[in-house]
Parts: sequence; structure tokens; C-alpha cells
Amino acid sequence: MNIRDALALAEQRLTAAAVIDPRRESASLLAFAIGRDRTFLIAHPEHELTSGEEAAFNSVLDRREAREPFQYITGRQEFFGLEFAVTPDVLIPRPETELVVEAAIRILEPQQPARICEVGVGSGCIVVSILHSLKDATAVGLDISPAALRVADQNAERHGVADRLELRESDIFTPFGNERFMMIVSNPPYVPADDMPTLQSEVGLFEPHMALTDGADGLSIVRRIIAESPNFLVAGGWLLLEIGFGQHERVRAMFDDAVWTEVVFLPDLQGIPRTAVARLRPE
Ligand SMILES: C[S@@+](CC[C@H](N)C(=O)[O-])C[C@H]1O[C@@H](n2cnc3c(N)ncnc32)[C@H](O)[C@@H]1O
Repeated sequence: MNIRDALALAEQRLTAAAVIDPRRESASLLAFAIGRDRTFLIAHPEHELTSGEEAAFNSVLDRREAREPFQYITGRQEFFGLEFAVTPDVLIPRPETELVVEAAIRILEPQQPARICEVGVGSGCIVVSILHSLKDATAVGLDISPAALRVADQNAERHGVADRLELRESDIFTPFGNERFMMIVSNPPYVPADDMPTLQSEVGLFEPHMALTDGADGLSIVRRIIAESPNFLVAGGWLLLEIGFGQHERVRAMFDDAVWTEVVFLPDLQGIPRTAVARLRPE
């Protein structure tokens, strides 16, 4: 089979499987399976695939047809200009989460060396990106999933920040002794349990449920983080939280104005408030 025929067949199968943008996905899958770039596919439509290449392509096509995310097939996702390893043990980093990283860096840049805590590190995309930008910062990354922590560790090594990141298994916060942080950051599981059946197959069938939902109203972990953070922040320290669509008013109500100040919600590219920023009142 040549490249043109392979792409036509793949597009047909992915269209039938209701994959969004089947033409682009077919080309990306074929390029990945045969270890070439997409320009090669365009330039050499007559190129005959070897039996090995055909088998490799069929195997990734079968997986994508079953709606497995492309990123779990390739094992990688770009985030904040860095390439992260991803496995089915971690959420695939999302572009909107880059807004949390940008805000964290903007706040912390003048306050170096900062000490940061991330709750729910997953792949490590947030904390690793922050540490990669802020060379004097150090951090603790927490996650309830030991498998996720192993992926975060791999990504910290890959981007040269492992010596400044301590990873710990923990249900939300762990006891830190007297330690206090300049910033706590989190992209917690915020999908309400009732919304889980409505998620796209790639997400609902393949991404870890523990990374998506709290199994309740979507706000129980957010509530715990907001309630417990004052015990772990320095006076005047910051809390940054990614939140879901339509949650910002309920989240605003969780911030007690006697404890917190400068509470703002940053919009995503569609203008939807998706990042909560709050400052613990300076003493
Ligand atoms: C939405 S994912 C975020 C992953 C990564 N920080 C990102 O932004 O792509 C939420 C993460 O929180 C972790 N998590 C869920 N419940 C937790 C809990 N009670 N304590 C600590 N981590 C938890 C999950 O394992 C998952 O890695």
C-alpha cells in the first residue's frame, strides 16, 4: 500500500469513528508510525509502505479508531514550549493551563527565590514549566497517584529541574512541619460527577477519572485547597487555581475576605474566567 492509499483508508476509518479532523489525524498518525514528518507524506504519495510500516500504522490506527487520544499513542504533548511525556496515568496537559503557568511566573518573577507547592502535579507540566523559567525557585509537588508522580519525575529530569522539585504522594496537603510557601498552585479535578458521561470519548474513556472529577459537585477539592492553603502559605503568599467553566461565582464565595485579598479571576482566550488568583492577607 502506498502513502496516498494508506491516508485515504485511515481518513475513512477515523471519519466513521467520529474523530474530529480525520484528515489531519490520519497524516499525523502515519507520520508517527513510519518515523517521518508530514512534509514527507505530501512529497511522496507514491511511496510504498514496507510490511513493517504498514503493521505499525495499522496498530496506531486501531488505537485511534477506538478513540484513544493521539498523545497517549505518541506518549508526548507540548506544553509551554516544552515536550512532556504523558501516559494514561496522567491528564494530557491542556493549553488553557498555560495561563496558570504564565500568571504564576508573572507574580513570582520579582520575588525570587520562591518556594512553591503544587497540589495534583500529574505530568508535572505546571510546576516543571515554572521551575524551568524561574531558575532560583524550588518546589514540592503533591499527587494522590504514585503512577502520576513517576511521570512527573521523568519530566522533571527531562527538563533539568529534578534537583529543585521534591515529589510526594499526598491526599491534598501533606504535613510540612513549619514550612510555608510563597505560592500554592493547582489544577484540581473539577468536573462534576454528573458531567462525566457527557465528556468526549477521548477524555471520558481514557484519561484518569481521578484527574478529572472529585466524584461529587466538582468543587470539593477546590473547597479543601482554599480552606487549607492559609496553613501552608507565608503571609502575603498566593494561591492560583484553575477552575471549570461556570464555576467562578461559587469559587469566589469560598474566599473569605477576612483571610484573602486581591481575589481575581483571569479569563481564558474565550474570555471565560478560568484561573482564580488570591493573596493571603499580609499580617
Ligand atoms: C486535573 S489533573 C492536573 C494535572 C496537571 N497538574 C495538569 O495541570 O495537567 C489533577 C491531578 O490531581 C490529582 N489528584 C486528584 N485527587 C487528589 C487529591 N485528593 N490529592 C492530591 N492530588 C489529587 C490527580 O491524580 C491528577 O494528577
